[in-house]
Amino acid sequence: MERRRRVLVVGSGGREHAIALRLLESESVGEVLVAPGNAGTATDAPGLPTGKLLRSVAGGTLEIAQREMVDLVVVGPEAPLVGGVVDELEAAGIPAFGPSRAAARLEGSKAFMKAFAARHGLPTARHRVVTDPGAVDAAVRAFAEPPVVKADGLCAGKGVVVAGTHEEAIVVATAMLTGEAFGAAGERVILEERLVGQEASVHVITDGERFVVLPPAQDHKRVGEGDQGPNTGGMGAYAPAPLVTEAIAARIERSIVVPTLEGMREEGTPFRGVLYAGLMITESGAPLLLEYNVRFGDPETQVLMSTIDGDLGEALAGAAQRSLSPDAIRPASKHALVVVLAASGYPGSPRTGDEIHGLEVAAALPDVQVFHAGTRRVEGRVLTAGGRILGVTASGATLRAARDAAYRGVGAIQFAGAHHRRDIGRRALEK
Ligand SMILES: Nc1ncnc2c1ncn2[C@@H]1O[C@H](COP(=O)(O)OP(=O)(O)O)[C@@H](O)[C@H]1O
Ligand SMILES: [Mg+2]
Repeated sequence: MERRRRVLVVGSGGREHAIALRLLESESVGEVLVAPGNAGTATDAPGLPTGKLLRSVAGGTLEIAQREMVDLVVVGPEAPLVGGVVDELEAAGIPAFGPSRAAARLEGSKAFMKAFAARHGLPTARHRVVTDPGAVDAAVRAFAEPPVVKADGLCAGKGVVVAGTHEEAIVVATAMLTGEAFGAAGERVILEERLVGQEASVHVITDGERFVVLPPAQDHKRVGEGDQGPNTGGMGAYAPAPLVTEAIAARIERSIVVPTLEGMREEGTPFRGVLYAGLMITESGAPLLLEYNVRFGDPETQVLMSTIDGDLGEALAGAAQRSLSPDAIRPASKHALVVVLAASGYPGSPRTGDEIHGLEVAAALPDVQVFHAGTRRVEGRVLTAGGRILGVTASGATLRAARDAAYRGVGAIQFAGAHHRRDIGRRALEK
């Protein structure tokens, strides 16, 4: 490559900050723009590799990509992917990492995903789709145990209810179908059999044909310790997850990843980008597909970026341009763990505008990296500006070392009302 790449990363969360910094560690990348970014991706953010540039930019994705003549666009969140931003960029001749609108239906419509899984024999929960509120009662009662109720469309992680009784499932499904709960995203409802086991996620970077599997990860969705309280965007994660043994990983690849990529090609909608399989691993070690996401997880990305070796810029550009070299990146023999610091009130209505202290102290600790999410920089100060504020991340030779370092980082940071879980990684460490 004659010139180092200039990459545009779309998004404003911890995921995008982590991707941006990992891209800047790549030999092939010289500059990363993040739109709209956060305080961590601003030009004056400390801790950049020498000779590399990072900045937050404002504007529409296509407009920025053209104005800044970027070599590659990496799209973080699902909404623009489901909306077709990759098709739009490619039509303008700009390489983009992420699926087309058609391929993004794997996340954009849970009914599409379930029908796809059935067409290609992927192991997943038995399900039914309901569209008529009058049919809910009979459909729910057709399940011997209360079914899980899912709105079809994008609901920012709030569209699933694991019902305790048939009656609850009926109430929830009806609220979705009448538009009360999620508007158009609830026009179709999926009822599915409740699966039992432990959850893990596997990310696969692919150009539609060739692929690289990243280390398995586990996140922590509930706001409270011991998985109590309401769901959040994710309060922490670690990788690799020991739950996914090599034998289980091989099974995931064979029974889920390969048939999915083949199926998408056969249907004329090859999947390019990163495919995130949300899995339930049963007691007997069988992986079952819970859902697909068509982008990197947040906060899983914060740990995945330090558990891979190689040139990430090369891998993402290769995936976008249908020429992924499967050895561009590979799992590193390292462990990583992220603890999310959230604002007062999160996951309800978070309070904003509190000043964050101790960022430099935390970042100076060995093996610790602090990724910004809901932050903004005002006159040299960093203020809270969202629900999830920071992802304090550490890597180490063992999960325990990564966990201990991450919590040392957490201890160095203060802002009014901050809260976090103290038990990230505990389940894996107790084994
Ligand atoms: N069939 C199922 N059996 C048991 N739990 C489920 C099932 N489907 C979903 N869940 C639980 O609900 C969570 C959210 O469901 P998911 O399908 O991942 O939707 P989303 O992430 O879009 O909200 C899962 O992480 C899992 O904890
Ligand atoms: Mg999910």
